Amino acid sequence: MTSQSQQLAGLSAQEKRALLAQLLAKQNASTPTKPEIPTEYYVFKDFPEYIGLEKMLHEFEANGQSNPYFKSHEGINKDTTLVEGQEFINFSSYNYIAMSGDPMVTQAVHEATEKYGSSVSASRLISGEIPLHQELEQEIADLLGVDSSIVYVGGHSTNVTTIGHLFKADDLILHDSLIHDSSFQGAVLSGATCRVFPHNSWQALDRILEEERHKYKRVVILIEGAYSMDGDIPDLPKFIEVKKRHRALLMIDEAHSMGTIGQTGKGIGEYFQINSRDVDLWMGTLSKSFASCGGYIAGCRELIDYLKYTAPGFVYSVGISPPNTASALASIRLLKAQPQRVTRLHQSAQLFLELAKEEGLNTGDSQDTPIIPIIVGQALPCVRLSQALVSRGINVMPMIYPAAPENGARLRFFLNCTHTEEQIRFTVKTLAQEWSKIKSSQQ
Ligand SMILES: Cc1ncc(COP(=O)(O)O)c(C=O)c1O
Repeated sequence: MTSQSQQLAGLSAQEKRALLAQLLAKQNASTPTKPEIPTEYYVFKDFPEYIGLEKMLHEFEANGQSNPYFKSHEGINKDTTLVEGQEFINFSSYNYIAMSGDPMVTQAVHEATEKYGSSVSASRLISGEIPLHQELEQEIADLLGVDSSIVYVGGHSTNVTTIGHLFKADDLILHDSLIHDSSFQGAVLSGATCRVFPHNSWQALDRILEEERHKYKRVVILIEGAYSMDGDIPDLPKFIEVKKRHRALLMIDEAHSMGTIGQTGKGIGEYFQINSRDVDLWMGTLSKSFASCGGYIAGCRELIDYLKYTAPGFVYSVGISPPNTASALASIRLLKAQPQRVTRLHQSAQLFLELAKEEGLNTGDSQDTPIIPIIVGQALPCVRLSQALVSRGINVMPMIYPAAPENGARLRFFLNCTHTEEQIRFTVKTLAQEWSKIKSSQQ
């Protein structure tokens, strides 16, 4: 018998009950009661982020506006578009050089789908490679004047997986303040230190590098070829000079500059006539000028070989589909054969910009790109303006915070090479009229 059980044996039933009650009370006092888990941690409708979104969407209704997002387009998204059976002049498509919907591109898609099916059904590394993949990668490399390229299934995921994979905790990522979300997500994923420099300021970048370069192993600078909120172009020769002096790498996202700038649409490298090998990572999407879906990294052979065998978003993901590969390939070949598409795009963008300036509209820093913002300031008048234009047969999207700066809400006009002079003149005139009505109603 243990001494404890001997003790208990000597107690009366009443004493035993009292002792038990004492023990239980002690235990309850020492065991902290578990707090209730609030529903905002496990019920989606109670997530504060969701409640914020719901509030924003309700504000449209409360202000008598309809939700401008997720409108269904019932045909090809080009210089015109069909929404709920009505045709609009359209300025919200990335179909810059009208490749999506082009009969030759569509034909290539049909042929590839018939030959290879609609999916390659495996990672390319394992058994999903088709001859079109290599042809596309060679065309992209040739277009840019570098050794090689790798094509991924998404433009966004190209940045996330490439940046996230190549850089590590001992490295530094320096990015423009207006860099796209995809590069930013890749930078966070990498675990490297991230620093931002003011938009297009190679001078501020230079100063940061002067002080910080020696503290890190690899340093990469992330910029874009044309910025999609402002339609401006960075001074690439200056960025190259800075990156060389500080022994850093330079990566350029050409989502909006490929197919649109440079005399024949070869992007920012052609625009500035630089040596392509001075940029370490050329990134681009296939979803804009190239009428498809996917993204690429182009550069030296060693970089591309390494990514092909190790980048998670490539190795552990299916290969780009036959129809998507074929549409991008046909678009690049068509761009090479028909550079006049780019000439027409440049003329349309220039005409739009000049007319908007003549009307006294604020086009910010837009220059030499087919992206022209009309900056109006507050979100509500911006949404009103876009709806007024819709009622006059013009489709253009409002960009409000957080996509645009807090007091920099804007309508973002994407020109494409099939916009006619008549469409452009009518649009700018109507825009100026509607904006002046909204301004006077605010006073
Ligand atoms: C600068 C930039 N990079 C990357 C992407 C992602 O490309 P995708 O839409 O092809 O996934 C976009 C998309 O708009 C972009 O604007």
